[in-house]
Amino acid sequence: MTSSVPTIEIVALSQTFDLAQLFAPGEDQAVRVVRPEEVSNPERIEIALAWRPEGKAFDAYPNLKMVSSIAAGVDSILACPSLRQDTVVTRVRDHSQADLMAGFAAFQVIWHHRRMGDYIANQARHVWDRSFRPQAPGSVTVGVLGYGLMGRKCAMAIAAMGFRVVVARNSVSVVSEVVPDGVEVFAGPDAIHTVAAQADILVNILPLTDTTRDILDHDFFARMRKGAALVQMGRGEHMIEDDLLSALDSGHLSGASVDVFRQEPPEVDHPFWSHPKIMVTPHKASDTSPAEVLRQVLENFAALREGRLPPGLVNREAGY
Ligand SMILES: NC(=O)c1ccc[n+]([C@@H]2O[C@H](COP(=O)([O-])OP(=O)(O)OC[C@H]3O[C@@H](n4cnc5c(N)ncnc54)[C@H](OP(=O)(O)O)[C@@H]3O)[C@@H](O)[C@H]2O)c1
Repeated sequence: MTSSVPTIEIVALSQTFDLAQLFAPGEDQAVRVVRPEEVSNPERIEIALAWRPEGKAFDAYPNLKMVSSIAAGVDSILACPSLRQDTVVTRVRDHSQADLMAGFAAFQVIWHHRRMGDYIANQARHVWDRSFRPQAPGSVTVGVLGYGLMGRKCAMAIAAMGFRVVVARNSVSVVSEVVPDGVEVFAGPDAIHTVAAQADILVNILPLTDTTRDILDHDFFARMRKGAALVQMGRGEHMIEDDLLSALDSGHLSGASVDVFRQEPPEVDHPFWSHPKIMVTPHKASDTSPAEVLRQVLENFAALREGRLPPGLVNREAGY
């Protein structure tokens, strides 16, 4: 039976993914995600789904009302020169994704705290070494940069394992909120440094903005505690990759887990692949499902149409 609901055409704009394939609809879906060359009438396009769109990507759609990221980050959309000022930008806010993120962060904290990399190296050499004694979690401070949808769940999961957690956010919340037990919040422009200076393990889950680009650099690492470890799962452009190598090779930092890179995928001869103190994962700290992304796109667009604030609305001025 064919549906009487008209199909909404959403244009997919990405230089890196074939979003039309990724978001291929089921048979009875009222939404069609199409490549630019498949658009029947550019004037009828009101919604775009985007991830790293090319510079002129939005030019062809004079009636575009809303651009949705396929994920939490919107940096590549906001940086796109053809994005018009009056276009609403939304993101995905997926609590299940935040749960995945929290699990990944918790795993990485344990990886560094318990020196799991040493056991794996020992196993390869058939070495039974029980000499390492981990500190009690309560005397280990884990810093989390970012206290949004992702950072909050990460902080709670890490605090639940008994670690002391200090987090950095941008602004002091206007609504007083309960901070979970074991979590201390620092806010303001210097919060990231305050947190970095205390952390034995530092988890970065900030958005990429004009303020946060290149923050994980030589000076930043020098402010971190000697022997601290870094879990980098925000955006590749947060970090000067050579500066991480220097901090590890000098012995100032003890290890790093890197999920996001300046160029993805990194070149096959990128030094992180084979560095003994770095764990590389392929931007998979968390994930969301195409069905959930589309559900949220439609929810956001319905809100926009009805004059309500879309739940995934991005503050274009703040950049996240
Ligand atoms: N590796 C992965 O698989 C993966 C998956 C999802 C997301 N991410 C990355 O994670 C980022 C965050 O996601 P989210 O959903 O948690 O975003 P969000 O809900 O928008 O939260 C962003 C947080 O960062 C804080 N912040 C922004 N600029 C800051 C600054 N200069 N100093 C200190 N804190 C600052 C914000 O402070 P306020 O609360 O005060 O506004 C907020 O707490 C995404 O943008 C994306 O880059 C990575």
